[in-house]
Amino acid sequence: MRKNIVAGNWKMNKNLTEAKELIKEIKKGLKKEKVKGKRVIIAPSFVNLNSAVKKTKKSVIEVAAQNMHEAKNGAFTGEVSANMLTDLGVKTVILGHSERRSFFGETNQMLAQKVDAALANNLEIIFCFGEQLEDRKGGKHFDVVETQLKESLFHLLKENFTNIILAYEPVWAIGTGETATPEQAQEMHAFIREVLVKEYTKEMAEEVSILYGGSVKPDNAKEIFSKQDVDGGLIGGASLKSADFLAIIDAI
Ligand code: PGA
Repeated sequence: MRKNIVAGNWKMNKNLTEAKELIKEIKKGLKKEKVKGKRVIIAPSFVNLNSAVKKTKKSVIEVAAQNMHEAKNGAFTGEVSANMLTDLGVKTVILGHSERRSFFGETNQMLAQKVDAALANNLEIIFCFGEQLEDRKGGKHFDVVETQLKESLFHLLKENFTNIILAYEPVWAIGTGETATPEQAQEMHAFIREVLVKEYTKEMAEEVSILYGGSVKPDNAKEIFSKQDVDGGLIGGASLKSADFLAIIDAI
């Protein structure tokens, strides 16, 4: 069901000691009444997932992984399977982050396989996608986004989307301090919903949560989240400081 969600992508930051400390601070600052009906997710690195699941057990905080391999198991040195995640108690995985696409060569087709493997293991997916700056400058951003969705997700049944959260992250806004304007975010989110209506149904499109990601900070979160089709945010840099992350949660 469509929900308001704030998810923190910690990327390759925080060792175990620091991760425990950050979780402690977030837990302390989270007010139960403020997060009612909302979801708060953190995505620490693989090595800190086990501890994070344990430390958040009695809180509303959910734990996600940042990536996974599509194979069940096997000779894939350095990789982690869906089953390894679910066995830890992890219920959600981020797939398709732009850094995975650009630094590690993940393509729409590879992501389609990861999506299938995650769903087959009952993992919920935060599926990231978004255009590069030159796409936007060339007026191709809508086409790029539609293709990303089509090639990685549109082989799925509409029922599968109950386990998918979409995260639109224009690459030019990630870690750059430059955010899309609330209007640009709304325009793209509305377009994404239209694409879902075209491919599936209106009811289904209304039920999918679509997050915005890219330099969301305490001072711009409220305005971005106020837009009709923006259901929350995927937060990078600002999720690494408890005060900032808590302020962004308050903004939703
Ligand atoms: P940022 O990262 O908030 O640091 O721009 C967002 C993301 O990569 O998900």
